[in-house]
Amino acid sequence: MKQQTTNTWNANLYDKNHSFVSKFGHSLIELLAPIKGEQILDVGCGTGDLAHEIYKLGGSIVGIDQSENMIQQAQHKYPHISFAVQDILKLEYNNAFDAVFSNAMLHWVKQPKQALHCIYNSLKPGGRFVAELGGKGNVQTITNEIIDQSEKSGITYTPEQFPWYFPSIGEYTSLMEEVGFHVIFAYQFDRPTPLEGSDGLRNWIEMFAANIFANQLKAVKERVITNVEHNLRDHLCKDNQWIADYKRLRVIGIR
Ligand code: BEZ
Repeated sequence: MKQQTTNTWNANLYDKNHSFVSKFGHSLIELLAPIKGEQILDVGCGTGDLAHEIYKLGGSIVGIDQSENMIQQAQHKYPHISFAVQDILKLEYNNAFDAVFSNAMLHWVKQPKQALHCIYNSLKPGGRFVAELGGKGNVQTITNEIIDQSEKSGITYTPEQFPWYFPSIGEYTSLMEEVGFHVIFAYQFDRPTPLEGSDGLRNWIEMFAANIFANQLKAVKERVITNVEHNLRDHLCKDNQWIADYKRLRVIGIR
């Protein structure tokens, strides 16, 4: 996970402009199918909306996130739920949960095997891991254009600056098996995702892709974003509505 990036996210902006993250997560809760009384860990809970939905279904839920801002907001919104700031790569739970749930967070973790190992250890034997993350090719139209325009503006881009890990089904399920999971489900699908407002693409880039512009002058960054908007408008914007080319990977593994 890009700790600097996620720690400085503005939790209010996240709720205002990017609430689709948890809206789309509802169908992942169906895949989790929580049973009343189960102990469930929500890894990367953000501002807590999905943890709250799981709580309403009777799950005994703990939400963790690396961002203090997010956890403060989550605790303020849902005081009846336990939230904590924690690093997924240093999870301290052992045999503690019936299920580990994660929506749209694991693609921020660039040490996926270590994260899977920590998740595996957090589960009770027989417990399930249910997750969605960006899959291979996720938002590639946008990221290719950002990288292209950055290089044209004289920004030296190196692959280490790419903020995400977007694995194929084969790659991720192999890692799951290597840490001990029995993989019972894996599915990749396209999910064209509307971005809020006429500045939707710009806001998305500023919120999520800031790392690519780390240490760049504001004016250079502005120029890159303006060029990206211009070049992608015909392809990703219809009637003033931006649609991002999200590709999702869903998995279920059993400990
Ligand atoms: C995603 O959920 O796939 C995603 C979100 C923000 C940046 C990149 C990917």
